[in-house]
Amino acid sequence: MSAHGPAQKMTARASGPLRGTAHVPGDKSISHRALILGAMAVGETRITGLLEGEDVLDTAKAMAALGAEVIQHGPGEWSVHGVGVGGFSEPEDVIDCGNSGTGVRLIMGAMATTPITATFTGDASLRSRPMGRVTDPLTLFGTQAVGRDGGRLPMTVVGAADPLPVDYITPMASAQVKSAVLLAGLNAPGQTVVTERAATRDHTERMLRGFGAEVVTEQTEDGYRVTLTGHPELKPQNIAVPRDPSSAAFPVCAALIVPGSDVLVPNIGLNPTRAGLFTTLREMGAELIFENEREEGGEPVADLRARYSPNMKGIEVPAERAPSMIDEYPILSIVAANADGVTHMPGVHELRVKESDRIDAMAVGLRACGVTVEETEDSFSVEGLGAGGVPGGATAAARLDHRIAMSFLICGMAAKNSVSVDDGSPIATSFPIFEQLMAELGAQIVRSNR
Ligand code: S3P
Repeated sequence: MSAHGPAQKMTARASGPLRGTAHVPGDKSISHRALILGAMAVGETRITGLLEGEDVLDTAKAMAALGAEVIQHGPGEWSVHGVGVGGFSEPEDVIDCGNSGTGVRLIMGAMATTPITATFTGDASLRSRPMGRVTDPLTLFGTQAVGRDGGRLPMTVVGAADPLPVDYITPMASAQVKSAVLLAGLNAPGQTVVTERAATRDHTERMLRGFGAEVVTEQTEDGYRVTLTGHPELKPQNIAVPRDPSSAAFPVCAALIVPGSDVLVPNIGLNPTRAGLFTTLREMGAELIFENEREEGGEPVADLRARYSPNMKGIEVPAERAPSMIDEYPILSIVAANADGVTHMPGVHELRVKESDRIDAMAVGLRACGVTVEETEDSFSVEGLGAGGVPGGATAAARLDHRIAMSFLICGMAAKNSVSVDDGSPIATSFPIFEQLMAELGAQIVRSNR
């Protein structure tokens, strides 16, 4: 599903108040991992709450192409009959991962130590993203990979017939790279070790333990060191996918900036490696309350209540917090534009290689909406105009990036003039019910022809 269908211009205008309960979809990161580990276990894994966005559906198809039986039983209810570690069969055709960096990188890791050959591609956004960060460590196992210039897709990966275990320090803060190495390590003998300087999301480690693998995380002077013992027999699991904090961010931030709003977003996973945005919003003075805090399936969960917060202040977002909120900078920059003073966001170089160059996409779109933004290679600053102060009246380019599209639509809900995005179709990759959910809260979003 590389094309997201035809481009769909969308426009949001002054809305609200936003009120009610927003049930956001399942976590994207956890949904990919549930399908992949389910496919590598022996027997049937049952999944509830799976995100049925295009990214995850592409991963489901890829698991079927590699030999697993993947069945949808009802909305969000799936089963995966796995083939066991090392049991993937060679796919008959090219694997198209659509828009999903997580999908393609984790699947490359999962097949890299099985002696099969697979060719991967994706949409224009994914074909422009660097894969060398994953194939570099995979070649240490004995895997071969040949792609286009700059390590871009399409790319053919030849799995190692006689893999070696690997000890690797990730050069960038990336859960995808860490996860690809760990998944490859499953079919290697002995211990595979991956060390990261800053802790990134740990869903792969948690889920591997749940499936019965031996995974030990230690804090060393080099950073977080994760050791996996190869050749486990993964036992099928029942997985209830928590709701996605990165999707919750959109109704939460909309409520903070649209006058009179009061929105409840229940059952949100608050794994500390994912929850940095909520800490940041509170530091800015957001009225954001965690209700009913509890543990579910080994993950902290709470209901989030967000109320209109007209007195938010710009802050310095600590660089070391970036990995725990890396997908939330686009929507944070919209909140920052509605706060008083400057919000400075350092240490975010990774944003340049997401579904789009997110620093550039936000800077260009926000400037068109009348907001002053400054950027360096690895940071950007937004000069807040105070509550309701953004002029708007522009069309932002979504650049095949779901989070850019949703961020500018939320910008339009609180701006003086409406804000459009040239193409809202990529929203379906992660949050297919976004438009309906926001409309039910009271948002004014319309589709228009280009
Ligand atoms: C993800 C990791 C992050 C994040 C992405 C999902 C994951 O990417 O931006 O949306 O599920 O592992 P990186 O690993 O490139 O930092």
